[in-house]
Amino acid sequence: MPAPWWQSAVFYQIYPRSFAPGEPAPTGDLAGIAAHLDHLSWLGVDAMWISPFYPSPQADFGYDVADFCDVDPAYGDLATFDRLLGACHERGMRLLVDLVPNHTSDQHPWFVAARSSRDDPMRDWYVWRDGTPDTPPNNWRAAFAPVPAWTWDDATGQWYLHQFLPQQPDLNWDNPEVVEAMHGVMRFWLDRGVDGFRIDVVHGIGKDPGLPDDPPEVAGIPHATLNDTARTHELIRGMRKLVDSYPGDRLMLGEVYLLSTELVAKYYGDGDELHLAFNFPPLYTRWHAERWRAQIADTRHHIDDRGAWPTWVLSNHDNVRHRSRYGSEARARAALFLLLGLRGSPVLYAGEELGLEDAEVPPDRAVDPGGRDGCRAPVPWTSAPDHGWGVTDPWLPWPPDADTRNVEALRADESSILHLYRRLLAARKASPALQLGDIVDLVTPTGVVAWRRTSPAGDRVVAVNMSGEPAGLDVAGIVLVASDGAGEGAPFAGTLGPDSAVLVDPRT
Ligand code: NOJ
Repeated sequence: MPAPWWQSAVFYQIYPRSFAPGEPAPTGDLAGIAAHLDHLSWLGVDAMWISPFYPSPQADFGYDVADFCDVDPAYGDLATFDRLLGACHERGMRLLVDLVPNHTSDQHPWFVAARSSRDDPMRDWYVWRDGTPDTPPNNWRAAFAPVPAWTWDDATGQWYLHQFLPQQPDLNWDNPEVVEAMHGVMRFWLDRGVDGFRIDVVHGIGKDPGLPDDPPEVAGIPHATLNDTARTHELIRGMRKLVDSYPGDRLMLGEVYLLSTELVAKYYGDGDELHLAFNFPPLYTRWHAERWRAQIADTRHHIDDRGAWPTWVLSNHDNVRHRSRYGSEARARAALFLLLGLRGSPVLYAGEELGLEDAEVPPDRAVDPGGRDGCRAPVPWTSAPDHGWGVTDPWLPWPPDADTRNVEALRADESSILHLYRRLLAARKASPALQLGDIVDLVTPTGVVAWRRTSPAGDRVVAVNMSGEPAGLDVAGIVLVASDGAGEGAPFAGTLGPDSAVLVDPRT
């Protein structure tokens, strides 16, 4: 059986508010995405996932959904969405929408009804507990601020659970009506033709029925990073059955925000839960070869060895961009060889192909309750003062150096990081070994990670020097792509510069 499309695909995350507007505007929208598909085709990505564009009060910038089956007017409407999906498919590109099953907005009609009275038929769609206003039902912490994951509802005299903001009440997936309603949401988008879902905090949806306290040693950590219960696996299997009943290898790419690869791996089930899961421990690993080697081994041990397929991600809308974390463009360039060279499906974040750093956001412009504005700065498309947005002052400040670090300027410069992304994406597409091949570690000097990807069609060797010194490397072959562009097409000279990487064709 041929491998499903999502194993060889390179994914690209779009944060719609910050990608591009269709008409001059301070925020991006769906028409803006459609207008920039040329960029994605040129770059060579295969699929995109789009952060929420549903009607929302924007307390958590779209992750507080007030209607799962519509488009917020700020982003367009369902017809705009259908056009975008059609345009992606015409280009052979796939599109995932972001499913947010754990919670709704407190403005969602379901919660408005649930909150209206203890006797409302929808009361039990959320998680309510008795108590007194001074003592929450357990010690769970909410995300974003050191506050309880419970809010007291004065009018009806009970607590409701929210693993995130009080404006994001958790749904009660133990209620079969909730399961049916969320399955209905999935069908709504699958029937429209989407290729699958990125699933927000999917490990959060099942709750331990006793709602036990988190252990004291982790009690200060948001419960959303700890919630891990058998019930969730059952619920995910239900979602998977639904998705698999559709033709065309639709995909469930789940966000499992548990900071242990071993725990993340369990969410693949026995091939009957998530097709793919985000694995964040590598994202939180610093630029250090021995630490990366351990992450690579951990991923292989827990994910590959159970017959599942890993994912690799270094940046997204929740974390400081890896260009900023690692501290130099050279490292950001070399990091791409990890993303595209390791075994698994890479997920890029819009703007990383420009080597963008996080924006400096002064306190009076900060808007996100989770302090994540910097990585959400608008993508600069041109060198003009409006950077292609039609307005000079978008919803967040521009990222650093937008005058020179933008799509127009970097496309004109073949030595840019943008061209490096394109070359390495093309080299990956041309290589069955890089897309689907097995992986074998190579023995390397300290400070270097290197591996061989194997395939009957031809092996590939990838080496990344994370040290500040040149490293000698016993690899023979032709350099196909180099992170600094040097020596491409020539035999590998045997030395890898500091903070640099190469892709080598070892047939010589
Ligand atoms: C994870 C999302 O990536 C993040 O942006 C959001 O705030 C939380 N889930 C809550 O939906």
